[in-house]
Amino acid sequence: MSTPHIEAQNGDYAETVLLPGDPLRAKYIAENFLTNVKQVNSVRNAFGYTGEYKGHRISVQGSGMGIPSMSIYINELVRFYGVKTIIRVGSCGGMAPGVKLRDVCLASGSSTDSAVVANSFAAGVHFAPLADFKLLDTAYHVAKNMGIEPKVGDIFAADRFYNDDIDMKKLADYGVIGTEMESAGLYLLAAKLHFRALSVLTVSDLLFGSQEKTTAAEREKTFNDMIKISLETAIA
Ligand code: ADE
Repeated sequence: MSTPHIEAQNGDYAETVLLPGDPLRAKYIAENFLTNVKQVNSVRNAFGYTGEYKGHRISVQGSGMGIPSMSIYINELVRFYGVKTIIRVGSCGGMAPGVKLRDVCLASGSSTDSAVVANSFAAGVHFAPLADFKLLDTAYHVAKNMGIEPKVGDIFAADRFYNDDIDMKKLADYGVIGTEMESAGLYLLAAKLHFRALSVLTVSDLLFGSQEKTTAAEREKTFNDMIKISLETAIA
């Protein structure tokens, strides 16, 4: 079998998938954290791998950037390959005052300006996309046990990276801790297709205050805490 965007065969994916946006991060996770690894997808260079973490079968799949690209992979993984749990591992821009560069954020929910959420229900209904509580609770305690204090809260999933129409300061004032471009879509699809989902994010830049940023190489190579938290959560 194959799907329009995935060439893997039936059974090639594990029931639990780590979903980074960057396919090279998928490769990095497979090469550095998994054993007995098999590459299961290379269509459009959206690399997918299946291997083992501490004896548990786990897959990792690059999703591309933004809700539209990510939604293609999620739909195909869940509908055709039987995936039941998806943990997004990605980066976010820090927004809340206490959020620092390199912090780990757990998205308990995800606000968005994306039309996919608004268009999923009749006008006037504003669905609140939420994380799976068991995954969230597990990730929180895994992180704490690793000596990491994760920031937990609302992540704003923006449709546009370059965007001066949205009042980000107002969102921060309403308690939004960070911004990226996927989590609301992931949680909406989890509700629709009945799978478990969580976004685990590392702060790669800060929207307000310090302009210090992480480099692309650092983002690929140094987010090991986030990946370990996600893998330990996956097998808990
Ligand atoms: N991903 C990482 N940082 C981001 C930002 N500032 N805005 C949107 N997506 C991001």
